[in-house]
Amino acid sequence: MKISDRLASFSRLDLVGAVTPLQKLDRLSGMVGRDIYIKRDDTTPLAFGGNKLRKLEFLAADALRQGADTLVTAGAIQSNHVRQTAALAARLGLRCRALLENPTGTADGDYLHSGNRLLLDLFDAQAELVTSLDNAEAQLQALAERLRGEGRKPYVIPIGGSNPLGALGYVRAGLELAQQAKAMGLAFSAVVLASGSAGTHGGLAVALAHAMPETPVVGVTVSRSVAAQTPKVAGLIEGTAALLDVEVPAGLQVELWDEYFAPRYGEPNQAGLEAIRILAGTEGVLLDPVYTGKAMAGLLDGVARGQFAGDGPVLFLHTGGAPALFAYRNAIDVRIRTAATMIPATPAF
Ligand SMILES: Cc1ncc(COP(=O)(O)O)c(C=O)c1O
Repeated sequence: MKISDRLASFSRLDLVGAVTPLQKLDRLSGMVGRDIYIKRDDTTPLAFGGNKLRKLEFLAADALRQGADTLVTAGAIQSNHVRQTAALAARLGLRCRALLENPTGTADGDYLHSGNRLLLDLFDAQAELVTSLDNAEAQLQALAERLRGEGRKPYVIPIGGSNPLGALGYVRAGLELAQQAKAMGLAFSAVVLASGSAGTHGGLAVALAHAMPETPVVGVTVSRSVAAQTPKVAGLIEGTAALLDVEVPAGLQVELWDEYFAPRYGEPNQAGLEAIRILAGTEGVLLDPVYTGKAMAGLLDGVARGQFAGDGPVLFLHTGGAPALFAYRNAIDVRIRTAATMIPATPAF
């Protein structure tokens, strides 16, 4: 049986709707001397978009099938995943409860209250601040137990929606991408994406191993070294393939770059902020300081250092995250202004 037929046997809410656009970034391509394309999963149609809606198509279908009345999840205060889960709960008439951590310990008021965090209140999600999410699975189960004690029917969604069921969303996205590439006559040298809780990376890798086997998937890590991230991605590849009952092709390599996330998860760096500025200034595309800015910094550096095989186009999977720009206003302001002072001013008239 084909992977698409296997996928079709799982219940799914149709939340993403039409395929997300696959576009050439003309001005950026001219600037870096290589064709760069972008798949716009930042434009999925719920609450400022992002990759999580694809995972939630499968996870929320499961929640409804189980008769849940509350979606329970966790993430950073500025989690895009929690924002999209809360928005979906509102749309489905469910409640949302979330455990939030402050990964950098910042006291910045924008981080604590604006961006994604502000939106959680609009969606009427109930958030609890915890000192850390080091033991997230157990912490989520404990919250679910408390909710059951209150007579509720919780459905636990792991951090990032990254379990094999959620990763099916990115198997589907990978098959969609392969069809688009074929229709446009494109053979990508690589697909580059941010690799965090790894469901996006794992699901996409399973699909592309079957549908675009010549194209490597390069995950730019946002929180971990290659050594720590590899088993997470490999585990999701195996778990997702097992859920679908398809083979993991022998020799499938997990490719990760970990030079772009320093100093740590959730803390912007100069190269990531520069990538945000370049994409905004050349293409009008908004990246974010936690995931896609750092991933794009990896792509741009990879092009500059000749890290992609051949001379084919390189695809960037835009996974969303721009609402966090408002939460990181101070980091973005200061560092971009510093960079801007180094560029000679051009008179406006
Ligand atoms: C904007 C954005 N990009 C990428 C990712 C990483 O996706 P994953 O957690 O599936 O690795 C996330 C996860 O939260 C995200 O919010």
